[in-house]
Amino acid sequence: MRVLSGIQPSGTLHIANYFAMMQRMIRFQQEHTLFCFIVNLHALTTVYDGERLKTDTMNACLDFLALGLDPEKAFFWVQGDVPEVCELTWILNNHTPVGLLERAHSYKDKIAKGFQPHNGLFSYPVLMAADILLYQADAVPVGKDQKQHLEITRDIAIKFNNAYGETFTVPEPWIEEDTAVIPGLDGQKMSKSYGNTLEIFAPEKYLKKKVMKIVTDSTPVEEPKNPETCNVFALVSLFMDAQEKAALAERYRAGGMGYGEVKKELFARMWEYFAPYRAKREELAGNLDYVRQVMAKGADKTRAVANETLDLVRSRVGLNY
Ligand code: TYM
Repeated sequence: MRVLSGIQPSGTLHIANYFAMMQRMIRFQQEHTLFCFIVNLHALTTVYDGERLKTDTMNACLDFLALGLDPEKAFFWVQGDVPEVCELTWILNNHTPVGLLERAHSYKDKIAKGFQPHNGLFSYPVLMAADILLYQADAVPVGKDQKQHLEITRDIAIKFNNAYGETFTVPEPWIEEDTAVIPGLDGQKMSKSYGNTLEIFAPEKYLKKKVMKIVTDSTPVEEPKNPETCNVFALVSLFMDAQEKAALAERYRAGGMGYGEVKKELFARMWEYFAPYRAKREELAGNLDYVRQVMAKGADKTRAVANETLDLVRSRVGLNY
């Protein structure tokens, strides 16, 4: 099975990215054909600082490699290094009803937040459809916020297949209940654009401060608390197995335990969990030429697959005269 997913380098990667997508992708590389990429073309819709985008793109590559993505096993590349995706985007634009894009929540949210309503933001889902269809992906591991983008992708694929005959695999979103929506420090969805994240590789003091700032209700220490509505519980349980999670939920309900104690536990778990990866990341950060070589090789390997689909599409629509 072909499993594919991408991530935006529009800021520093955080633990919601990790648990909803990165960790799952790294596990899938054992049993599936994995396509994993850093979507720098998508980041252009909101990042207008070239130096920042370069740095964040390189950092995202480092993060994945440090966390265990194996570029020999997987297809791992930077989206813009395989520009064939832009050609497919243009072709798919002609099979994408404007009404479909007008209904996209992410577009409406961005405009509500004051972003300029430019065409890049509007047609973001078409580039994402091209990302997925170009590699004939069967399954796309994502968080719930990407579900509608997957529905749009499926609509476009079906429309194209109906018009020209079977061309694209119609992909399935792959969303796990436990990681569908991971809350941030303020209880809203954790997101690079809300400033409410716990970054995977944040320095120790800064991370400790951030964890301590997580918003909770003001139930006194002695009183019972509700694990279901507590951000700290949701976050610490990402680092726990089912038994530990149930035991902690019991302690919440029994009372006598303050949120401060759970925050300390969260910091300790997170710090320890990422320790071996932190060491690996430091090593890689000292050898950026190696990382650039890995990404260049990844793009070459991926381009060959992209061109298989693109040749078929060109012939379907009549571009190869
Ligand atoms: P991005 O970069 O915003 O997020 C990367 C992945 O992390 C998931 N995620 C979350 N999951 C649960 N709770 C959260 N708080 C949370 N925050 C982020 C996202 O669902 C995503 O899986 N449009 C995509 C990138 C993209 C893509 C693609 C994905 C471009 N092309 C093709 C899949 C296939 C995005 O902006 O993800």
